[in-house]
Amino acid sequence: MANVTVIGAQWGDEGKGKLVDWLSNRADVVVRFQGGHNAGHTLVVGNQVYKLSLLPSGVVQGKLSVIGNGVVVDPWHLLEEIAKLGGQGVNITPELLVLADNACLILPLHRDLDQAREAAAVNKIGTTGRGIGPAYEDKVGRRAIRVDDLRDRDALEAKIDRLLAHHTPLRRGLGLPEYDGAQLLAALEEIAPKILPFAQPAWKLLDGVVKSGKRVLFEGAQGALLDVDHGTYPYVTSSNTVAGQAAAGSGLGPKGPGYVLGIVKAYTTRVGEGPFPTELFDEVGQHLGTVGKEFGVVTGRARRCGWFDAVLVRQSVALNGIDGIALTKLDILDGLPTLKICVGYKLRGETLDYLPAGLKDQSAIEPIYEEMEGWSESTAGATSWKDLPANAVKYVRRVEELIGAPAAMVSTSPQRDDTIMVRDPFQD
Ligand code: IMP
Repeated sequence: MANVTVIGAQWGDEGKGKLVDWLSNRADVVVRFQGGHNAGHTLVVGNQVYKLSLLPSGVVQGKLSVIGNGVVVDPWHLLEEIAKLGGQGVNITPELLVLADNACLILPLHRDLDQAREAAAVNKIGTTGRGIGPAYEDKVGRRAIRVDDLRDRDALEAKIDRLLAHHTPLRRGLGLPEYDGAQLLAALEEIAPKILPFAQPAWKLLDGVVKSGKRVLFEGAQGALLDVDHGTYPYVTSSNTVAGQAAAGSGLGPKGPGYVLGIVKAYTTRVGEGPFPTELFDEVGQHLGTVGKEFGVVTGRARRCGWFDAVLVRQSVALNGIDGIALTKLDILDGLPTLKICVGYKLRGETLDYLPAGLKDQSAIEPIYEEMEGWSESTAGATSWKDLPANAVKYVRRVEELIGAPAAMVSTSPQRDDTIMVRDPFQD
C-alpha cells in the first residue's frame, strides 16, 4: 500500500508525534487533515525537542507538508509556529509547506467565544480554548472565512459583515465587547501577503503526488474517542478524528488513506472533562502521570490516567479500520507488580463489550478487569522482542488479542530509534 494514515486510537496524546516523525522518513509528503492548533505533537530528535501544534510533523524532516482543507487554521498562530521552528533551524518555505486554499480560518473571535463559553458553562468541555469548536461551527454554518478569501479585499469585507451578523448577538449574550469588523479586515489584510504564498489547491497537488507513485503519510491529531461522531459526545473535539477523515480532509478520495496505523498507549490518558471508565485516582494513577510525564503539550494541563481499556481500543480498531497498531510508552509500566486490563463493562447488571453512545451510560459503566503480572526489568530503549522481559511480551500479546489488531511497532522511549519494528506500514 502506498499511503499510511496515522491516527490516535484513544483520547489523543498517544505519542503520535514520534511515530509520524519516524514514518516521515519513508514518505514523500505529510498531510494534516483535521483539527487545528489544539493538537500537540512532540518530536524528540537527538537533543532537540520540537513542539508542533499546527504544522505537519514532516516539516522537521524537510518533507513536503500539507495542511489540508479539513484543518481549521489560525493564520497568526501559523506564522508564529513557522517563526519558532525557524529559530530551531527549520526553514519553512512555500516549497516545503502547502496550505489548502479552501481551509477555513480560526479568527480571534472564535477564541473569544470558545473561552467565554467555557468560563460561563456549568458542564465545561475542557477545551484547549483555541477557538477550534466555534471555527468548525462557522464552517458548517457556511459563513467561515477561508484561506482563498484573503485574495479579494471586497469579498472579504462582505464576508466579515456576514460573519459578524452571526457573532455580534452571540458576543452580546456572553457579555463580550462588540467586535470591530474594520479592525479584523485590516488585520487579515496585513497577514494575507505572508499566508497566501503557501496557499494552493492542495487536493490537486496531492492528486499529482499520488499519480506519480509517491507516498503520502496522513497525520491525524487528537484521538478516535474525541471524534465528533464516534467519541464521548459532547466531551469531544469538533472534527472527525477517525481515519476516514483523511480522505475528506485532504481531497484525496476514499482509497487515499491506505494502511491505517493506530497509535495506542500501553495505558489510558485523557485531558479535559468527560467519561473515562478506567480512570485511577490512587497512587498507580499518580505514578503513571509522573513517570509518563502526562502533561498537555498545548495547555500544560495534567492528564487523567488509568489502566489500558481494551474495549475502547477494540471499538477504535473497528471505527478506523486499523490495520496495525504502534504500542507506545510500554516502559511507563515498568516496575508495577500487577497490571490490569479492562476487558468489558458492567452496566445495570449486564455485561457490555462496547462503549454505549449515551453520556449517562458512559458515566455509569464499571470496568471488568483482567489482571496480569508485571515486570521489574526496564523496557526503556528496547529495540527487539528479545530485549523485553517475558511478562512485557505477554502483555503486548494479550493487548493484540483483545483489540483484534497486531502490533506493527512497539515504542519504548521518546527517542526516534527506540522502537521494536515488526512491520513497516509503507511496505504492507
Ligand atoms: P477542543 O479541541 O479545543 O475544542 O477541545 C475539546 C476536547 O478535546 C477537550 O477535552 C480537549 O482536552 C481535547 N483535545 C483537543 N486536542 C487534543 C489533543 O491534541 N490531545 C488530547 N486532547 C485534546
